[in-house]
Amino acid sequence: MIADKETRMITDRKVEEKMDSNPVIFGGEPMFKDLLHIIRPTLFDPDEIVSEIREIFSSGNVTTSKYVKKFEEACAGYLDVKNAVAVSNATSGLMLAVKGLGLKGEVIVPSFTFTATVHSLIWNNIKPVFVDCEQGTYNIDASKIEEKITSRTSAIMPVYIFGNPPRIKELTKIAGRNNLKLIFDSAQGFGSKCQGLKAGGFGDVEVFSLSPTKVLTAIEGGLVTTNNDELAEFLRRARDYGKSRDGSDIDDVGLSARISELHGLVGLKNLRNIEKCLNTRGKLIKEYKGLLSSLEGVSFQEVLEGNISSGNYMVIFIDAKQFGMTRDELYEALKAENIQTKKYFYPAVHMQKAYFLLGLDYNGKLPVTEKAAEEGLALPLYGHMRPDAVEKVCGAIKRIYNYCRSKKETICAQRGL
Ligand SMILES: Cc1ncc(COP(=O)(O)O)c(C=O)c1O
Repeated sequence: MIADKETRMITDRKVEEKMDSNPVIFGGEPMFKDLLHIIRPTLFDPDEIVSEIREIFSSGNVTTSKYVKKFEEACAGYLDVKNAVAVSNATSGLMLAVKGLGLKGEVIVPSFTFTATVHSLIWNNIKPVFVDCEQGTYNIDASKIEEKITSRTSAIMPVYIFGNPPRIKELTKIAGRNNLKLIFDSAQGFGSKCQGLKAGGFGDVEVFSLSPTKVLTAIEGGLVTTNNDELAEFLRRARDYGKSRDGSDIDDVGLSARISELHGLVGLKNLRNIEKCLNTRGKLIKEYKGLLSSLEGVSFQEVLEGNISSGNYMVIFIDAKQFGMTRDELYEALKAENIQTKKYFYPAVHMQKAYFLLGLDYNGKLPVTEKAAEEGLALPLYGHMRPDAVEKVCGAIKRIYNYCRSKKETICAQRGL
């Protein structure tokens, strides 16, 4: 793995030296001299792939050919699933998977997710039926699904929120007894495990993202995995406009969603380091939790016993009253410390303008989702991030927290908390 500029020059002064001074928003010096990004793609030395790039260029086979096939096979082996079909991104993968499963009518989906989950339904002319997320795991609340099933429901679409596996066993049972398809948006879940099994072979189909913000990146790309050979065949045709195998006809109304050989190659090379990235993320998340757990008003996502999250995002939830500052204020305060964070997921899908305009009318009806969207803040995390960066981010948060606590009365009163 190659260290980028940011990881080579993390620090100008030690955390402890800065702990006694004020946070920047109250007149102090920033914790980081240069911006600490929330995410950096974990890559490798580009010299390692020069000969393969030459081969790709000289062969003229530049898209969905040898290296994409090798990447697909390597992923299928790693994830222990029969078929892995690489596509241009997870959004197109979801759109094609929804189409390939023949879904129609209504699909049950969380609103506390990234917007593309639900876009894939709208593009297939399907009505999303939102179910609240559960407090703690922030995954779709399985106990609230069956009350939303109607004669029009064709599938359930759970999401690995921040990489955390949803309640797969329960969801599989619910789908089975109601004769529904089960399609996982696993965009953030590459490397996650549920009761010892890797994400990839659950439900009818799983869809991963390989964008630069993901645990495994191909720079851009997506991966659709399934044990259903017929569906995999459809996906291979449909990512290429729906062309028949011999190219003489169009069998399906597909998309232009192929993936280039260069992306396949990058994905293949990055897959070598996946375990290392997952371990680093796991350790950094543990470090974050250890350093922040004593702060009142800060809580973390719960991963169910026996499951492992890919750790795609490290999200803290801020209870403004206890913390002494809202999530939005903490976001601004950390920005001033040169720390990039993300309000995540915010706004929840049903609160986004595009969805509001669709007239779905869920406002106030998904209380856990709306609270999570107001309180969640993703902190910097990536597969080659140094532990001292975590220490400094936590130092900055603690400094802000301590200052707010010391002036709690005034600050809370000013903010009406
Ligand atoms: C949950 C979820 N679904 C879908 C997507 C879309 O992925 P892509 O950017 O590869 O289309 C993302 C991307 O961040 C995501 O987080």
